[in-house]
Amino acid sequence: MLEHEIKIPASPAKSYRTEIGSGLLGGLWPRIEADFNGYNKFVVTDENLVSAGHLEKLLGQSDAPAFVISPPGEASKNIDTAVTIIETMEKACLGRDTLVVALGGGTVGDIAGFAAAVFKRGVPVIQIPTTTVAQADSAVGGKTGIDSSLSKNAFGAFWHPSAVYIDVATLTTLDDRQFRAGLVESFKHALIADSEYFEYLENNLDAVLERKSEVLEKVAQFNCKIKGDVVETDPYEQNKRRILNYGHTIGHAVETASGFELLHGEAVAIGIIAAGMIEIELKIAPKDRLERVRQILEKLDVPVKLPPNLAEKDLIDLIKHDKKAVNKWPRFVLLNDIGQVYCPDGQYAVDVAPEILGRVLKIL
Ligand code: GLY
Repeated sequence: MLEHEIKIPASPAKSYRTEIGSGLLGGLWPRIEADFNGYNKFVVTDENLVSAGHLEKLLGQSDAPAFVISPPGEASKNIDTAVTIIETMEKACLGRDTLVVALGGGTVGDIAGFAAAVFKRGVPVIQIPTTTVAQADSAVGGKTGIDSSLSKNAFGAFWHPSAVYIDVATLTTLDDRQFRAGLVESFKHALIADSEYFEYLENNLDAVLERKSEVLEKVAQFNCKIKGDVVETDPYEQNKRRILNYGHTIGHAVETASGFELLHGEAVAIGIIAAGMIEIELKIAPKDRLERVRQILEKLDVPVKLPPNLAEKDLIDLIKHDKKAVNKWPRFVLLNDIGQVYCPDGQYAVDVAPEILGRVLKIL
């Protein structure tokens, strides 16, 4: 088992543990009961976790209540689901002495974290991510959120978890498309922070895709270290944390414009290619770097081009809703090279002229 401590200066708990292992889930519940003795437990999960047997494995003989999100996925990540979760907790007469346990992928973690952040003005949450996207990114770092009809994560709060338990064995039941798409967030971490990690992913991609547990544990360890370091430096995204949104400005717009037909990681893959094209337009990064990234994303079998049915104008309208927008125009995270974020005047997210963005979207 591997552990990583994330220190969050401004949060009440000051720090929390991410624990990584294969087969953690089975023995976890008694530990959660002991660590949160005196708390009522309320699990939030979704139908996929129930059918894969992961909820049963977590709870064992416990009769703790579980709210099962249905249908699973982004379509349920909305205010109605959050209200239903909160009203279910109210009907069960739960109070502030409640621990929310999020078992699932990014959608489950984001909604459960949001519900925990606002229920009775905030109760603790433990994140148990079970997908590649959640283990790499969404479960670590305290971002919670739900979508509006216009944009992703329009409602949200920073609500740091009390602990994160990453069981890479849960990835063995994940469908192949979800598995591959979520790995894009691992590539994003390597791109923004660590060229050695990028090489590790290039050299071990087959073993990752075969879901070898020792390689998945190593990947999770790289991810927690990179994300943990960034979150410790800037927990509430004043500047440096923006680097975690590499590829996401265009990625979020593409994801929304596709009507969520594209998975988050698939849209981010397109966004990473777009960011690379902007870097070339601005002459801040070498051309061969983009080709290296394109090759690995192609090997991962995620899209690297805009689907033909997405209109450039719709994308630009959606991009204006990006949460990094200033005066209704987005800021972009860009790279000078693998592991090196472009950071003029100490700013990690920068202005890109509309003509450049327009040119890139035309050829993307
Ligand atoms: N997913 C980006 C962040 O946690 O800041």
